[in-house]
Order: sequence, then C-alpha cells, then structure tokens
Amino acid sequence: MSVTAEKVKEEPGIGTRCIRSQQFDLDTLYKLCELTDKIRNICQTKEGSNYISSLLNDKRAMLYFKQPSTRTFLSFQNACHILGIKCSEIRDISTSSFMKGETELDGVKTFSQYVDLIIMRHTSTDFVNLIDSNLNNNMRIINAGSGTDQHPTQALLDFYTIYKYGFKNKKIAFVGDLNRGRTVRSLALMLSKIDGMKLYFIAPNGYQIKSDILEQLEVPYELTDDLESIMPLVDYIYMTRLQDEYGGIEETWDPDAYKIDLNNVNRLKNNAIILHPLPRRDEIAVEIDNDPRAKYWEQTANGLWVRVALIASMFNISADDIDKSKDYNKIKRLYLK
Ligand code: NCD
Repeated sequence: MSVTAEKVKEEPGIGTRCIRSQQFDLDTLYKLCELTDKIRNICQTKEGSNYISSLLNDKRAMLYFKQPSTRTFLSFQNACHILGIKCSEIRDISTSSFMKGETELDGVKTFSQYVDLIIMRHTSTDFVNLIDSNLNNNMRIINAGSGTDQHPTQALLDFYTIYKYGFKNKKIAFVGDLNRGRTVRSLALMLSKIDGMKLYFIAPNGYQIKSDILEQLEVPYELTDDLESIMPLVDYIYMTRLQDEYGGIEETWDPDAYKIDLNNVNRLKNNAIILHPLPRRDEIAVEIDNDPRAKYWEQTANGLWVRVALIASMFNISADDIDKSKDYNKIKRLYLK
C-alpha cells in the first residue's frame, strides 16, 4: 500500500491519530490554534504550568525516531513534559530485537502495550500508514515525519505561525527542494483550505513539487524556477534545504539561486515574513537572522506549544474543558492576566 499524500477522505477533528495534513479541516485547525494560545498563556506562571502538567500525568508516550532529529524529537519530548506525560524512546534500533530478525511492526505492537501514545519518525513513507492501520484505534499515534512524504505536525506549527501574522488574501512562496521536502508538501495541503491564498512553488528542474500534491490544491498556484521575480510579490517566503539524504544532487541544483542573503532580502516586501522549518544550511544567510522579517526562530518556539495542544486534543482536552475546570478558574483568578 502506498501512503499518503494520495487523496484521503477527511474525517474532521483530530481523534486518536495525527498521520497526514489532509485530515485537518479549518475548524479543527482554528480550535487547535486557540488551544495553543490558551495553554501557552496559562503556562506563563508556575501555578499555571503545574496545572497543565497535571492534565495528562497518568499517561505515557514512546518516541520512536528511526531518522535523525533534534528539534522535532526534543520539541515532542518537552511537549510531553509540559503535559506531565512520561516518555520513553527508541532512537537506535541496533539496541532492539529488530537485530534478532523481528519485524518493525511486531516491535511497535509490543511497545504499544506499554504506552498511551506513540510519536514516530521514519525513513519510510509507508511505515506510519502500516502502523496506523495495524494498531488498535484507541492507541494515539503521531507522525513526526514519514520519509519524503509528510510532516503534519511541522505543518501545524507553520499554520499556527501564519495564523498569528494573518491569512487574509496572502501569497506564500515555497523555495528549495520541494520534490522531497515533506514540510512543504504537508503545509501546502493545509494552506490550500484557506480561501484567497495563493501559493508559489520555486524550484529548479527536478526539484519541483510533485503532481500528487498539486492535484489536491484548492487554491491558485504557480510553478517557477525564478526566485528573484517572485520575492516582491509575496507575504510569506518559506525556505527549505536540499534533502540530499534521499539521493544525489542533480546538475540543475544551484544553491546560489535559491537563497536569501543581504544581496536580495530587500526585494521582499517590508512586512514579508521569512520562514524555514530548520535545520538550515546556507539558504538563509545568518545575517538575515537580525532582520525583523525573519521569524524562523519564533516558528520553532511555536512548535513546542502547538505540539502540546495537539497531544492534549488527542486526549480529548479542549479549551472549553479547561475553562470549566475548577483548578484553572482558581489559578486564573489568582495568577493570570
Ligand atoms: C524538517 C524535516 O525533518 O523534514 N525538519 C524538521 O522537522 N523541522 C526539515 C528538514 O529536515 O529539512
């Protein structure tokens, strides 16, 4: 079975699974953004943080990361800590029974008996789907990156960042290795739900976004290889790195043609927003970090709180439940602005 960016029937809401970005309807996305703001605000005080860390302190999570990761791994681990969830992890499969010939499916089924939530990153596009269809539906599963296909939680944090700066009639350009960049694939599908959005995909030959995504877009889009001409038009520019861990570099790849530095940054509007899922190489020069339009560090910080809200939602905690809680109302009265 092949996954994933193929058109799937949308089941509104989050439920127990976060597998692909198509599953999120706009209403669910806005609710998630509101819950993110709420939890973030509550956690500004020690009393508030203690309350949030009591919400899921009877739960356990497993982080199964079979691909290099620092920010996503730590972001999820810390999101679990904020909610009081205890974590265990597998990052190095040479220490597991897979070395004795066990299938990965059996391995994951085994540790699913010990935990309430599995957060997984995998080199294979299909593995997350295999787990999704083989584990009991009450097991919470989050896709933290599935090969070159999807990265729905990065899309959620990107969506939240764009929600903070405004959606109405905005234009966004995606730049770089769009063929294999899973963050762009997931985010394009999510933003395609917003009326009035326009998407530009800027990449050289051989690196353009694939037709499986384009076929699902419900908003206008353009494909081009010319970064300089699109820069002045857009409100958001989303830079990405070459994904060469998935294969070689073709001759058409010219890193100098797909970067932002002091030579071209002022082609952007004064109020444009520069985003990047990170890690970066040289597609955004470090000098740009001090430009007020650079928001990628803020984007990373947002990721922690969006993941807290996502996990809370998957355990059926809503902003309403928090509002009705006696403990929260006491903290609100005494400590929160
Ligand atoms: C991205 C990923 O893993 O796809 N990183 C991340 O999770 N923020 C982007 C990348 O590795 O280029």
